[in-house]
Amino acid sequence: MNMIKLFILFMTCSVSVVAWGGTAAPDPRVLWKEIQTLQKNHAIMSGSIPYQVGSRMADPYTVDLANALAQSSIHSAGGILKVTRYADGSLVVKENFNVNKQLVGITAMLKAANFDPTDRNWVMASYNPAGKVLSFGKVGSCIACHVLVRHQDLVFAPPPTQLLPITTWKAFFPKQEINPVYVALIKHHPEALVR
Ligand code: HEC
Repeated sequence: MNMIKLFILFMTCSVSVVAWGGTAAPDPRVLWKEIQTLQKNHAIMSGSIPYQVGSRMADPYTVDLANALAQSSIHSAGGILKVTRYADGSLVVKENFNVNKQLVGITAMLKAANFDPTDRNWVMASYNPAGKVLSFGKVGSCIACHVLVRHQDLVFAPPPTQLLPITTWKAFFPKQEINPVYVALIKHHPEALVR
């Protein structure tokens, strides 16, 4: 093991101990602080790019963030599509932006040991831009869609690497208008569709 790997290991271990050591269900406020740190550090998730294409007109731009534990899970597996298990303490975040690229909502998934073994121990959370908790915990509506990539431990790869059919989006969000740019992406990358 070289020095860089040792350093990453040290950093990731210390982060998990400081933030979530021993807590099965973290406090939503503590999680919000952790999300703010990722935002401040522009901790873009491996494979994501700023303002990538979102599926809905309400939030046609998105940015994915990840903490050091999630990033090292991705790197050591050789990419998001190959991750079968994220390390405990992994945090992934999706920022949603409207047409004017203003932040309109934030969703997050935190891997907390023993939290929800049936669905891979992810704490699902959503916040408004000011940090108000909109949903938190074992959120069935989030999990129902994310289990489509159970083999990837419930974490999707960002577009255009992975895309969901419009019928799936419509089934979950019947009243939402779909982003035509996302529809075009599907046309160009039919192989990326998760079925
Ligand atoms: C209809 C399906 C669907 C529903 C419902 C859904 N998501 Fe997602 N989510 C996705 C897809 C597809 C992506 C990948 C797009 C991207 O990364 O921008 C994603 C991305 C994410 C990410 C970034 C990590 C990743 O998997 O790429 C987080 C965090 C997230 N969602 C959390 C949530 C939470 C929390 C809820 C519930 C409040 C939720 N999602 C509801 C489909 C869904």
